[in-house]
Amino acid sequence: MKRIGVLTSGGDAPGMNAAIRAVTRTALYKGMEVVGIRRGYNGLINGDVFDMNVRSVSSIIQRGGTLLFTARCPEFKTEEGLQKAVHACKEMGIEGLAVIGGDGSYRGAGDLSARGIPCIGIPGTIDNDISSTDYTIGYDTAMNTVMQLVDKLRDTAHSHDRCSVVEVMGRHAGYIALNTAIACGATEVLCPERDYNLDDVVAKMLRTRETGKQNFIIIVAEGIGKSEEIAKYIEEKTGIESRATILGHVQRGGSPTVRDRVLASQMGYYAVNLLEQGIGNRVIGIRGDKLVDYDIHEALKMKKPFEDALYDISGIINI
Ligand code: ADP
Ligand code: F6P
Repeated sequence: MKRIGVLTSGGDAPGMNAAIRAVTRTALYKGMEVVGIRRGYNGLINGDVFDMNVRSVSSIIQRGGTLLFTARCPEFKTEEGLQKAVHACKEMGIEGLAVIGGDGSYRGAGDLSARGIPCIGIPGTIDNDISSTDYTIGYDTAMNTVMQLVDKLRDTAHSHDRCSVVEVMGRHAGYIALNTAIACGATEVLCPERDYNLDDVVAKMLRTRETGKQNFIIIVAEGIGKSEEIAKYIEEKTGIESRATILGHVQRGGSPTVRDRVLASQMGYYAVNLLEQGIGNRVIGIRGDKLVDYDIHEALKMKKPFEDALYDISGIINI
C-alpha cells in the first residue's frame, strides 16, 4: 500500500494519540502516505481529512483524548453510508485504514474490509471489554485515575467514619471495577459478571466493623448502576453514613500511563506492518507480552473470561 488512513472511533481513551503517532510515523518510515481522518467514520463519509507528516503527531504522546477527534456515526451502519465511505476512500486514494476503537468500530472495519478497503482494528477503550486482547489502550490509565480518585474519597470517608459508594465506568464490563477494588482495598465490588445481594454487603460491613473497621469503600460497576440507591440502602441497614459518587467521564481523560503509551506504540507499528503487506480485516491484540492479530469476525465472536481468581482474592483480603 502507498497511502493509508487513520481514524479514532467510539469513546475516546488515553493512549489513542500514541497509537495515531505510531501508525503515522511507521507508515512514513516505510515510504507510505498517511491521511488523518477526523471524527471517526464521519470524516471518511464527509471528506474531513488531512495529509499527515512526521510533525503532525509531535507532542501528542503524553496527551489524553485524540488529535483526530472521535464520534459515533450511525450512517456508517447503513449500506448507503458504507458505500459513501468506500467511494471516498477510492477518490482520496486511501488503500487501507487503521481504525482505533472498540468492538463497534471493529464491526465497521469488518464491513469496510468486506467492501474492498482493508482495515486493521486497534483496541482503544478504557473498558478492556474486547475479547481478542488481554489489554486495551486506555484501560491502564483509567484504572490509575480511578485509583487516585478513590484514594481521595477514602481520606474523607476516613475523617467522617463513612461509607463511600463509588461508581466506575465499564459499560457492561467489570474489569475496571474489580481491579480498582483490589488496588484500593474496597470492602466490596459489585460487577455485572457476578450476582450480588445487598444484604450480604451489609452483613460483611457489620462483621468488619466489629473488628474495628470504621470507613468503607464499595465499588459499583456502571453495568450495575443505582449507586445512590445502594448508598441509601447501606446507610439504612447499617446506620453508617453513606455517600455515592459517580466518577463519570473524568475516567476517560488524562495523560496516558507508560503501559498505555508503550502498548499503543507497539500496536500502531504492528498495524502498519500488516497494511504494508496488503493485509486487512484483522484486529491487533496482546496475549501475555506477545502481539497477535485475528480475523475481525473471529475476534468479535470470542468471549473474554472474567478474572475469577482476582474476584476471590478481593473477597478474602478486603475485609
Ligand atoms: P466502540 O467502537 O467504542 O465500541 P460504538 O459501538 O459506538 O463504539 O461504535 C463506534 C462506531 O462504529 C459507530 O458509531 C458506527 O459508526 C460504527 N459501528 C458500530 N457498529 C457497527 C456495525 N454493526 N456496522 C457498521 N458500523 C458499526
Ligand atoms: O466505552 C467507554 C465508555 O466510557 C463506557 O465506559 C461508558 O459506558 C461509555 O463509554 C460512555 O459513553 P459516552 O461518552 O457516550 O457517554
